[in-house]
Amino acid sequence: MTIQSDLDRQARDILRGNDRGGYTVPTAGLYPYQWNWDSAICAFGFATFDVPRAWSELESLLSGQWDNGMVPHILFHKPDPGYFPGPDVWQGIGPIPSSGITQPAVAGSMVRLVYERDPDAGREVATRLYPKLRAWHRWFLDWRLDSRGAVCSTHPWEAGRDNTPEWDRQMERINPEGVGEYTRRDTGHVDPSMRPTKFDYDRYIWLVQLGARLQWDPAALNAASPFRMADPTMTFLLLRAHRDVLWLGEALDLETDGLTDEIAQLEKGADSLWNPVLASFDGRDAFDGSFAGCISNASYLCWWAGVGRPEQAKHYAKVMEQVQYGLPSYQPDGPHFDSRRYWRGPTWAFINMLAGMGLAEAGLTKEAALLRETTRALIAENGFAEYFDPLDGSPAGGKSFSWTAATWLAWASPSAEEA
Ligand code: GLC
Repeated sequence: MTIQSDLDRQARDILRGNDRGGYTVPTAGLYPYQWNWDSAICAFGFATFDVPRAWSELESLLSGQWDNGMVPHILFHKPDPGYFPGPDVWQGIGPIPSSGITQPAVAGSMVRLVYERDPDAGREVATRLYPKLRAWHRWFLDWRLDSRGAVCSTHPWEAGRDNTPEWDRQMERINPEGVGEYTRRDTGHVDPSMRPTKFDYDRYIWLVQLGARLQWDPAALNAASPFRMADPTMTFLLLRAHRDVLWLGEALDLETDGLTDEIAQLEKGADSLWNPVLASFDGRDAFDGSFAGCISNASYLCWWAGVGRPEQAKHYAKVMEQVQYGLPSYQPDGPHFDSRRYWRGPTWAFINMLAGMGLAEAGLTKEAALLRETTRALIAENGFAEYFDPLDGSPAGGKSFSWTAATWLAWASPSAEEA
């Protein structure tokens, strides 16, 4: 057996091992439930060897949709006392016990990619999922846009990049008084130096308590919450998913009213995240309009969204010279860089994949190939970790991680390139 096919086998085993019956957990122990964007990426991985299983992943994710259209960031299908904060803290109001926030809208793009693998077999299920995707995207447009049309994150966990330095200033302004005593579970599973600090965690929990008190009413939350950041991850991924939903609507001959105008609106929102001082896409404080001043791996999702700029490609060239492997989650020459602490430096394989697919589509083929090659080497040499140190490739966070395995199968493996 070649090394490559052995890695393909390991990746499939990880996805199967993390399968809890129709949905996949990110990794056993640390993350024992279904996470939104993880699950969408898993579907893409499953589609390389089991298309029906890819569909059941997407169906189970969307089965947690709330009446108002929101699709939660965690679905607590079965109780697991080893996780905090669990359903009792979140008090989600949907059909399945859940968290009260969402995560970046990747699912629409993955529905399209899975459908494209086998359109005949996928027509019925894609038709069933289409109105759910429309309702979820509608919810973003109704409740998460700032005055310039960019998509906002109302909790650091909502953007999926928990402790990126982009949030630091708003986090400092939050006084987590009354948060009470709680026991973190994450630091029992992995080294605390690879995780967010207590300063951050107190504020994460305080924001969850605020949302639960307001019964997750989006209008009340918008009025009361001190955390609201216009975010490149959420904006670029929703814009891309909206394009893919339009594509699906046309392919399936379904109603697509309003989608073209909404795409134009989101394009404006995406452009508004351009920080002219940095000459890069950046997070922006939705209250006072000030930019965070950070070049993150989300900045490079602009091509995936179809709004890439040549100036961003210049940063790409520079940043890739500063690291050995993949895109760092925060610029290595910035004051907050920490090569092993989560979203403050480490490289995340699935973001590399989305950025790489975007670069390829935009015709930046050399850049796309470099990202794929270094991510391939990263995983081949260091395994299927949650994330990695971009300087030396050493693995960090949880092990046997689903979206790293899915990224390998769908994009990083040589077999993906041949497919
Ligand atoms: C962490 C990540 C988030 C991910 C989750 C499960 O909270 O920051 O993006 O969805 O873990 O893997």
